[in-house]
Amino acid sequence: MSKEIDKIIHQRRAVFPKHYSDENISKKTILQILENANMAPTHKYTQPWLFKIFSKESRLKLGTEMVSEYKKNSQDSIKNLNLKEKKILDKCNKSKFIIAICMKRDDKDLIPEWEEIAATSMAVQNMWLSCTSRDIGCYWSSPSYAKNLKKFLGLKKNEKCLGFFYLGKFQHKNLKKTRRDNIENKISWF
Ligand SMILES: Cc1cc2nc3c(=O)[nH]c(=O)nc-3n(C[C@H](O)[C@H](O)[C@H](O)COP(=O)(O)O)c2cc1C
Repeated sequence: MSKEIDKIIHQRRAVFPKHYSDENISKKTILQILENANMAPTHKYTQPWLFKIFSKESRLKLGTEMVSEYKKNSQDSIKNLNLKEKKILDKCNKSKFIIAICMKRDDKDLIPEWEEIAATSMAVQNMWLSCTSRDIGCYWSSPSYAKNLKKFLGLKKNEKCLGFFYLGKFQHKNLKKTRRDNIENKISWF
């Protein structure tokens, strides 16, 4: 068991949509991945994560909304705006599913926000590892316009969007080792 989980952790990568294959991912698989997200640890059981799932036509609607929000706040030239628009829409097109990563504060604000973001991030890591073990490529994108999509995502006042999780089929084997500084430089034994 531990060997298996070690292997999956070391195989995990940010895999971008341009590398996804055209193979479909079933709704059942996505649900299993979300069930794993739901097992993340959480202080006082607030379970702050919320996921908004987009696929087929809805992911293109999301892409259009992303483009519109990006354009509203950008100083880019027309040429760069057009390039960015294409990039956003291509990413949505190449992904079989896009999951908006959202977080809600508990009604009484019992838990500091950082703990709720930490718990939501742990849920995302569960998804990321679950994807790796199923040969699904994925990555967490955190564009600045995410905060402006609140209405589109149907989020309430005490809810926030922390970015988007793009998913598509991808073979993880034969990937090079990811870049990390040596753990020995980050630890002190007491
Ligand atoms: C909270 C968070 C936000 C991220 N946002 C972005 C992003 O906006 N764009 C991006 O290209 N990658 C983003 N990433 C993915 C990182 O770029 C990626 O994990 C990093 O390059 C390390 O690569 P690896 O995951 O393959 O080891 C994000 C990762 C995390 C944890």
